[in-house]
Amino acid sequence: MKSRPSKTPPENIVTSGRRTLLALAVLVLGLVLVLAQLKPIEKTLSGLLSRVPQQESVPSGSIATLAEDRMIEVQRHFITYLQTETGLSRQEKTRALRQMLRAVQETLAETDDATLNNHLYAFKYPVRRMAEELAQLDPDALSKDLEEGFTAQNRLNPEKHDTPWAFDRFEEASYQTIFHDPEYIQPAWAMKVLLAERFQDRQSFLQLAAQDASASPNDLSKTDVIRQLFTGYASSRRGEEQVANALKVLDPTRLRGATWAEIGYGTGKSFQAVRRVIGPKGRLIGVEVGPGYTQFANRLLLRHPQEWGEITLIEGNYTDCRLPPNSVDIVHEAGIHVGEHFQEHPDDPQLQWLLSIKRALRPGGLMVLNDHGSPPLDQARSVMRKVGFEEFRVHYIGPPPRDGRLHEMVVSFRKPTSETTPEPAPDS
Ligand SMILES: C[S@@+](CC[C@H](N)C(=O)[O-])C[C@H]1O[C@@H](n2cnc3c(N)ncnc32)[C@H](O)[C@@H]1O
Repeated sequence: MKSRPSKTPPENIVTSGRRTLLALAVLVLGLVLVLAQLKPIEKTLSGLLSRVPQQESVPSGSIATLAEDRMIEVQRHFITYLQTETGLSRQEKTRALRQMLRAVQETLAETDDATLNNHLYAFKYPVRRMAEELAQLDPDALSKDLEEGFTAQNRLNPEKHDTPWAFDRFEEASYQTIFHDPEYIQPAWAMKVLLAERFQDRQSFLQLAAQDASASPNDLSKTDVIRQLFTGYASSRRGEEQVANALKVLDPTRLRGATWAEIGYGTGKSFQAVRRVIGPKGRLIGVEVGPGYTQFANRLLLRHPQEWGEITLIEGNYTDCRLPPNSVDIVHEAGIHVGEHFQEHPDDPQLQWLLSIKRALRPGGLMVLNDHGSPPLDQARSVMRKVGFEEFRVHYIGPPPRDGRLHEMVVSFRKPTSETTPEPAPDS
């Protein structure tokens, strides 16, 4: 059969051309509309903080650093979001949060647990806040595609307590203080501290401390509390580990009812474990060097469950712990690194500070240095002997590392039993 030549009239060509043009126009219009809608978000997300520290050259290549880079990028977006959210519509906010959380979700999905625990821990606070905020704006958005992904990996699941991304009671109280206590802190400010900490950016850190209106000039203590919270070491689980190590160099028969001074308590992560050791009749005293620590501890006390018991908080300084003479049985410090940067000089403030601690201890009382082996033992020994402490016990944590890293240890020193500290003469 011969095929017939097409008799399609020219009008039809025109009609079909018109249709194509119309479809194209609709498409372009649609695109324009979508882009117009996206613009504020892009602006939000691309006007990335010129005010937060810029990324230094991070060694690239490993999964850990790539994952961390992505989380840092999300963190920058989140800071911008926190600073601009009042000007955004509900729809814009939802979209921005979903974008950020998707990036987080993808990153977490590709991340092994070691990376998560060692490199990404600090981001669990802001990520949780993003998820919480999105759930408030649009409960479906979270449950539909995000929550599933997170909980499947047990990484944002509050029920799952054995993963470091779950919040224990202490972290929960800290979290609430950072994100739901606007009189205490601006979340965007706290998030910038996180980045300054990540990049070890001292200058930004100091600038941020200066922006804290509630602090007196040069007081870094509130900024430092936030820094500590985001380092990944400020859960009460870590506090438990710390105190468990301290117990290895203490006399277990003399702990119940003891007076324990926690010098440099920081966020207070060890208070709960100490209270368990000394019992309800023991006395717990915290010493720190700035009002920001006391402020935070008191805020936490308001939210924190009763596990801490009654605590006396004292403001000491770098030359004097300001504890009364002969008043404590145990002094514990973690992270002050006693003996580091010690100068063989009688005016070294560390000597005076240690002498003030020795005065505060009762005869036979113990001071525990819990500094992860930094400085090495000999250095710690040298300064402690200089002020007249006797070595009591050393406990090495784990086998010696093979890669030249410091061997972690905890060590205790005793105030000689023969030594009583004269009470200061009453004021005349
Ligand atoms: C690395 S942080 C550790 C905090 C807490 N112990 C922990 O393990 O999480 C060290 C803390 O010791 C405090 N600190 C340093 N020197 C101090 C001193 N002479 N007296 C009291 N606190 C001091 C710092 O302010 C800081 O909070």
